[in-house]
Formats: sequence, structure tokens, C-alpha cells
Amino acid sequence: MVFFSRRSLPINLGAELVVEVHNHVLPAVDDGARTVEEAMQMLLFWAEMGYQKVIATPHQNTYMQVSPEAIEAAAQRLHAQLLEQEIPLHLTVAAEYLLEPELQTQLSSLRTFGPKRYVLIELGWWAAPLGWEGFFFTLHAAGYTPILAHPERYDYADEKNLKEWYEKGVLMQINLLSLANKYGRKAQHKAEYLLEKNWVAFAGSDLHHATDIAALREALQHKLLRKRLDRLLNPTLL
Ligand SMILES: [Fe+2]
Repeated sequence: MVFFSRRSLPINLGAELVVEVHNHVLPAVDDGARTVEEAMQMLLFWAEMGYQKVIATPHQNTYMQVSPEAIEAAAQRLHAQLLEQEIPLHLTVAAEYLLEPELQTQLSSLRTFGPKRYVLIELGWWAAPLGWEGFFFTLHAAGYTPILAHPERYDYADEKNLKEWYEKGVLMQINLLSLANKYGRKAQHKAEYLLEKNWVAFAGSDLHHATDIAALREALQHKLLRKRLDRLLNPTLL
């Protein structure tokens, strides 16, 4: 006799996503985690959810310039804590770049991740930057593969824009927190639309603070996300 089905148990979806690709876990370098303790709460959550690897993506733009030394020091502190607390999580560092003219000058030294030299790029919040297509082309020509961060969060991007980005081959990364209504219904619906259409390449958290862990836990149970897990590329980053 079967008393319960394993399917009825909470599923640790991190075990299927495997790699967390967008977050601000490095302590005291940008607008993300403020302390090592807060960062460790976030890392512990991912480990408990079954993730094996976390790629930290601190902001890199003219408003939030973070020195390589500060990034290295923050990562070292977390590596030491992961070892000391025996948390089986691999932490690496990339970046989240804002598409702005100054980015052109850094083309030789962008922080990448994964087998295709992925570079995480966010657009401006108020209007799509002119010439973004040309810049994505430049990135490809320089040997990088750009990933568009949280397309659902740009207010100016409607379903027509999302379709256009997909058809032009833009790899899109949705925020898991969008699925838990962190940024409003409009962003949530667009994230769901992208999942429904199978246009999502990566799912990341964009977690900035430990206070959003509960929402992230809720997002990981989203039915549509569960349905689309085998289409996501996160595991290729292991
Ligand atoms: Fe971010």
C-alpha cells in the first residue's frame, strides 16, 4: 500500500536548476548582501534547496563601480565560510553589466561564466538603449555570448518586444522572484508568458537580501517553472 506519493512532497527545485546564475550575494560590494552573515544565509538557502553552484554577479556600471580587489576579498571571505561550515556549494564570480557606452571600453576583460563565455547584461530601466542590437553583435564578435537579464522587468518591454528578442536569438534570463510577484503583476505575467512560450534560457534569483528568501522559496514551487525545468540551460553551467 502506498500512503503518499513522492510527487506530493515539496520538491527541492534547486536540485534540478543546479546552478544559481544571477544574484548579489557578495557582501558589501554593491546593493546586495550587507554582511558576511547575510550572504551566508543566502548561500545556505541555496545549498538546502539542492543547488550545487552559485555564480555571484555583482553590479558593474558607472553608478556602482566595484574594484576587482573588493570582489576578490568578498569571495574569499565566503569561500572560507563555506569551508568552515562544511556547506557543499561551489561559489564563482562573474558580473552583471549595465548596457551603457562605457561598457565598450571593457570589452577585453569582461567577467564571464559557462562554456560559451556568457556575459550577463542588464538594460536601462526607463527606455531600451539605442543601439543595443549592435552592441550585442559586438559582444558576439568579441567572443562573448550575452545573456539578457530579467527581460520581464523592463517596463517598456511588452510581449511584442519579448517575441522580437527571442526571434533575434537573444538568450533571456528571468528572475525567479518575478514569479513570486516581487516586482508587481506586470513583471510576473511577462515572466510567465516567457515560460509558457519556452523562450527562457536561464532562471536566476537576482536575490539581493536574505529578506527575500521566503519569496524565492515560493517561486521555486511555481507550477509553470516546474513544467519548464528541463528546457532551462542552468545545468550546463555546472
Ligand atoms: Fe541583478
